[in-house]
Amino acid sequence: MTALTLSTAAVPGLRADAIVIGVAKGANGPLVAPGAEAVDSAYDGGLAGVLETLGASGAEGEVTKVPAPSGFKAPLVVAVGLGSEPEDGEGWDAEALRQAAGSAARALAGSKKAAFALPLTEAADTGAVAEGVLLGAYSFDAYKDRGGDARGKKKGKGPLAEAALLGAKPRDNAHRAAVERATAVAEELNRARDLINTPPNDLDPEAFAAIAQAAAEEHGIKVQVLDEKALAKGGYGGILGVGAGSAAGPRLVKLSYTPSGATKTLAFVGKGITYDSGGISLKPAGHNETMKCDMSGAAAVFAAVVAAARLGLGVNVTGWLALAENMPSGSATRPGDVLRMYSGKTVEVLNTDAEGRLVLADALWAASEEEPDAIVDVATLTGAMMLALGNRTYGIMANDDAFRAAVHEAAEEVGEPAWPMPLPEHLRKGMDSPTADIANMGERMGGGLVAGLFLREFVGEGIAWAHLDIAGPAFNEGGPFGYTPKGGTGSAVRTLVRLAELAAEGELG
Ligand code: BES
Ligand code: MN
Ligand code: ZN
Repeated sequence: MTALTLSTAAVPGLRADAIVIGVAKGANGPLVAPGAEAVDSAYDGGLAGVLETLGASGAEGEVTKVPAPSGFKAPLVVAVGLGSEPEDGEGWDAEALRQAAGSAARALAGSKKAAFALPLTEAADTGAVAEGVLLGAYSFDAYKDRGGDARGKKKGKGPLAEAALLGAKPRDNAHRAAVERATAVAEELNRARDLINTPPNDLDPEAFAAIAQAAAEEHGIKVQVLDEKALAKGGYGGILGVGAGSAAGPRLVKLSYTPSGATKTLAFVGKGITYDSGGISLKPAGHNETMKCDMSGAAAVFAAVVAAARLGLGVNVTGWLALAENMPSGSATRPGDVLRMYSGKTVEVLNTDAEGRLVLADALWAASEEEPDAIVDVATLTGAMMLALGNRTYGIMANDDAFRAAVHEAAEEVGEPAWPMPLPEHLRKGMDSPTADIANMGERMGGGLVAGLFLREFVGEGIAWAHLDIAGPAFNEGGPFGYTPKGGTGSAVRTLVRLAELAAEGELG
């Protein structure tokens, strides 16, 4: 990953491949943002005019490259759009800084060193830029150019190697702490992206569990892995039913971060379908090519628990990874089968492609048995949620209005677009089954909400619970933007970490 430093070096003499500056959208054209005064004066105060000539407006996401002025050691100036200037007395929007830093880092892939001369006043600004750089510089090339060219040289560009943040007060504890937080969160988030992007032939439930086990032990997190045998013994009919068709057996991984003195406990539950073919209710071609992403919820939970431990947050955090591969075969669960779930309830499986709710149901009940203060599950659960909210926004459902609002606020704070969705009672009867306690499918209309209502049945009485359906934002099939790469995005990681921070500060519920 990109190495980050805080620097007070003066720009003209700085050795780097590029200087990154901010451009804001002014009423009469682009404006050079604070932090880049020295760069602007080297253009005799005419940088805004130069940028305007090149077509720059200061809009978010915009990247404009200009040759550096003479006398500069760095050859290039990269101007990134920050959107509108803040109102008088307000700071720069953290998300605008994060996105701009991400766009710049991505535009500088293959470079050795860039200096970021962006407006950094508060420690929060420094944290946002640090996070944006580390997330924007991400690339997944584990499966590319392995042998390199004839001389054995790697062909891929590779990420920006080093970023120096200028003006970020290297001796100020708050700024340093902000960089440390950003580093821990971004490293774990990027690891979640790696897991999501890893092809399903290399990441089955056993492999995922082994990676989680190794990482957790490294960070003092307790790990417990239930394999097929242990799941059968424990009566985890949902997870076993989904994994029954695959040659690779399912797993339930429990990660426990329990710092001494912590009084609150959060449980995070992640859907970890390492590949979703649909099972016997097989998905048609065109709907299965990206289904390696169906473990994004489990990857997010894993990343958040490790990040909480690395940050030393004063809250107990338990992560539950419900891992299975959903495949058709002679041993697969059939539409019409009835599963006895870990909670004791029976479920008639009408569609084996509605598998996420089955593995989550067992993990939610297992999490509930420990009576945490709150449970948050994360899942690429329904295509319906993508139809409702598009592919950048996740849906939040909950059994408690205040908790749903708290999750939404946390998401907004960290720059993850999310929106509250209802759990309309009338949709429950669509899941009535003539044979079992409930069916795994209901009305087609409102399919995302129906899935949420199904999950609610497996949450213990009196526990605040929220369900994040990240089917839209988990995997970016389009081009990269801001700090979001193509492929696995790491959606919901930062919301979960923020919730853990709030709980540690006694500010959650
Ligand atoms: N993993 C899918 C949902 C999904 C679709 C995630 C597209 C990301 C992109 C989930 O298991 C699924 O297949 N859901 C079905 C449920 C239906 C059968 C009730 C769906 O949404 O169509
Ligand atoms: Mn499915
Ligand atoms: Zn699925």
